[in-house]
Amino acid sequence: MIGVVGTGLMGYPIAKRLLAAGYPVVVWNRTRERALPLAREGAAVAESVTELAEKSELALVVVSDDEASASVLEQLTSAKRGLDVVNHSTVTPMHARWAHGLCGERGCRYLTLTVMGGPTEAERGELVGMAGGDREVLDRWGEAIGRYVREVVYVGSAEAAAALKLAINSIYFSSMLSVAEALLLAERWGIGYEKFREVADKLWIKVLLDRYAGRLLSEKQPLRFRMRLAAKDMLYAVLAGFSKGQPLPHITAIAQTFLEATTIGGLGEEDYTKVYRFLRSTQADRATSTKSG
Ligand SMILES: NC(=O)c1ccc[n+]([C@@H]2O[C@H](COP(=O)([O-])OP(=O)(O)OC[C@H]3O[C@@H](n4cnc5c(N)ncnc54)[C@H](OP(=O)(O)O)[C@@H]3O)[C@@H](O)[C@H]2O)c1
Repeated sequence: MIGVVGTGLMGYPIAKRLLAAGYPVVVWNRTRERALPLAREGAAVAESVTELAEKSELALVVVSDDEASASVLEQLTSAKRGLDVVNHSTVTPMHARWAHGLCGERGCRYLTLTVMGGPTEAERGELVGMAGGDREVLDRWGEAIGRYVREVVYVGSAEAAAALKLAINSIYFSSMLSVAEALLLAERWGIGYEKFREVADKLWIKVLLDRYAGRLLSEKQPLRFRMRLAAKDMLYAVLAGFSKGQPLPHITAIAQTFLEATTIGGLGEEDYTKVYRFLRSTQADRATSTKSG
């Protein structure tokens, strides 16, 4: 039996893919109602993390952050010796190191398997993974994991796989914010989107516009990745740099922008592409308050 801990935007389609492929799956979610629709797909719904651990040989952890991961790992590993744990959550490398140690002390095996791609890629089985830690877990469960991860690169330690995810994410988020700010700058100078594209499409940056411009400008972007988790990822990248004495000034600025969109903008539960709207409205608000002041 495979246990899925956390049936949020990512955990849900992962559980669904496994069920569709015929694997027996037990799920647990802190807010139980969010796990219940998976029962219709054939999943057992556990009442507790402990019950899930007792029923499972492998537990996939797909939760928000270090704190959530620590909480469920404590419960999983105290419930069952010999459990294999795969952590898909984006966490700090410091947490990944602690988690690997905890599992080892409690007779469990641990693999960090951070993923690139969102809910759509999970649904299609097209995530790309970075793995680190107990490689035997990958060897044993590779076929099941292959149902939702297209390719896995084994990078070494549990903490390396966590750090690499933060590093790669920072390129994605940086690219998205560059496009958002460039669009806003052009717009403020009365340059239409079509003229912007006419030039950009002749340049290598076309790929960035193809990837992000439509999503940033769309009013109806579906929720794929929460703003507060984007802030968390970039804050974790900054912390990971800090713990090695590496300043990351650009990533710090990205973290600050997502943090402000979450706190000041109240957009924490919205899709992270709404950062464009946040920056745009902030500009408009400033203009209004300057005029009225
Ligand atoms: N969405 C993406 O595109 C994407 C891509 C790659 C990686 N990730 C990473 O994957 C992880 C999950 O992301 P997501 O998009 O699925 O987020 P999500 O929809 O917000 O789901 C978060 C999950 O964590 C659970 N959780 C939060 N705090 C908890 C706690 N203290 N104890 C137990 N469970 C807790 C939530 O339970 P409740 O339902 O009770 O809140 C929910 O099941 C995150 O680390 C994220 O950074 C996301």
